[in-house]
Amino acid sequence: MSLFRKKDISKLLEEKEKGNQLKRALGAFDLTMLGIGAIIGTGIFVLTGTAAATKAGPALILSFIIAGLACAFAALCYAEFASTVPVSGSVYTYSYATLGELVAWVIGWDLILEYLLAVSTVSVGWSGYFQKLLSGFGIHLPPALASVDQPGGVFNLPAFLIVLLITWLLSRGVKESARLNNIMVVIKVTVVLLFIAVSIWYVKPANWTPFMPFGWSGVFGGAAFVFFAYIGFDAVATAAEEVRNPKRDLPIGIIASLAICTLLYIVVAALMTGIVPYPKLNDPAPISLVLQAAGQNWVAGFVSLGAILGITTVLLVMMYGQTRIFFAMSRDGLLPKVFSTVHPKYRTPYVCTWLVGVVAAVLGGFFPLNKLAELVNIGTLAAFTLISIGVIVLRYKQPDLPRAFRVPFVPVVPLLSAGFCLFLMTQLPFDTWAAFLIWLVIGCIIYFGYSRQHSTLNQPTNN
Ligand code: ALA
Repeated sequence: MSLFRKKDISKLLEEKEKGNQLKRALGAFDLTMLGIGAIIGTGIFVLTGTAAATKAGPALILSFIIAGLACAFAALCYAEFASTVPVSGSVYTYSYATLGELVAWVIGWDLILEYLLAVSTVSVGWSGYFQKLLSGFGIHLPPALASVDQPGGVFNLPAFLIVLLITWLLSRGVKESARLNNIMVVIKVTVVLLFIAVSIWYVKPANWTPFMPFGWSGVFGGAAFVFFAYIGFDAVATAAEEVRNPKRDLPIGIIASLAICTLLYIVVAALMTGIVPYPKLNDPAPISLVLQAAGQNWVAGFVSLGAILGITTVLLVMMYGQTRIFFAMSRDGLLPKVFSTVHPKYRTPYVCTWLVGVVAAVLGGFFPLNKLAELVNIGTLAAFTLISIGVIVLRYKQPDLPRAFRVPFVPVVPLLSAGFCLFLMTQLPFDTWAAFLIWLVIGCIIYFGYSRQHSTLNQPTNN
């Protein structure tokens, strides 16, 4: 058995032709909305505070620019990769046909880390704002059940419960619709703009000095940390098949959503650090904290509510993405078949949805936010590095494949993307690397111990 066996790409194309063609209805504007809907969440509403307090100080704005650049390059590569044979939208499926089973497994395994832990991370962010809102009504959870990031904290009950609620919704077939997404984007952006408009008057420029209290290493470490705030732009690329004019609209959608988010993030970071001295920003709901410091309690309440709603949609998108990758890997035989069981009534992959949901809920309940976010980042950056290199490999090995979208200036852009991603990975702490390597070793054990034998490629007709 070869280590580099592949699915037959012509079979994939046939499958795609046979399957229902999705309607090409999306334009650049819809894609931009899709991107912003998936991007803005816990990163901006929560991690900015931690990053300013413990990593970059006011220079967090530089961290956001660096992470945004890395994402822009990676997103272009992701778009080419996802749009070449956009079967069911997952880069995992496509890498299976082009780069072989082993690489596909590693990418799929990394994406599981990304989405699964992103659900946990985002749930912890959700919990912070939820509790901030409750405290406005005088309701406080016992410290043991409020958060694991605070002294005396054992379990994050709200984070645990929100993931189970989302799991239940997804297992019943509830999907985020384009309309709901657009409403949520309007709410999220309004909340961020409201924060900007109200807080701008309270900036004390003295708070920006020292600008770089942790030096360049803090800025780079901050960039690797707030990379999380941009995750979700991959959602734009996976919609390639439903785009009217992917060559034009896909890059516009990706770059526009990233540019808008980068701009919002930079302004928010500048205001936060300009109003509250950066060491005090390490709070589960830093945006509300800043507004309260400015004496704007009512606005703080509104913003908390908007953040809760906005973060909920990110949870839905991430959890949905996770279950579909798990489902595809199980259908290909790389994970046990039971996970691709579809519910007879709701037509959803409910077994893997519940598995993912319970694991994500428990992790969100027991683990601190920062560690979860760093693990998500390392898994995502690793997947993006492989995808960027994959783009170059495929340009040389299969130059004639039809590609709905082509990265400009190959191999420069993919190399920049891989370089940026690898660099950001090196900025993550040692324990994150250790956990990531353990994750990869577990992945190898499962792959060589189970998946290779059970893969559908082991059936003679598929070879
Ligand atoms: N970018 C998403 C967020 O910040 C994952 O919540």
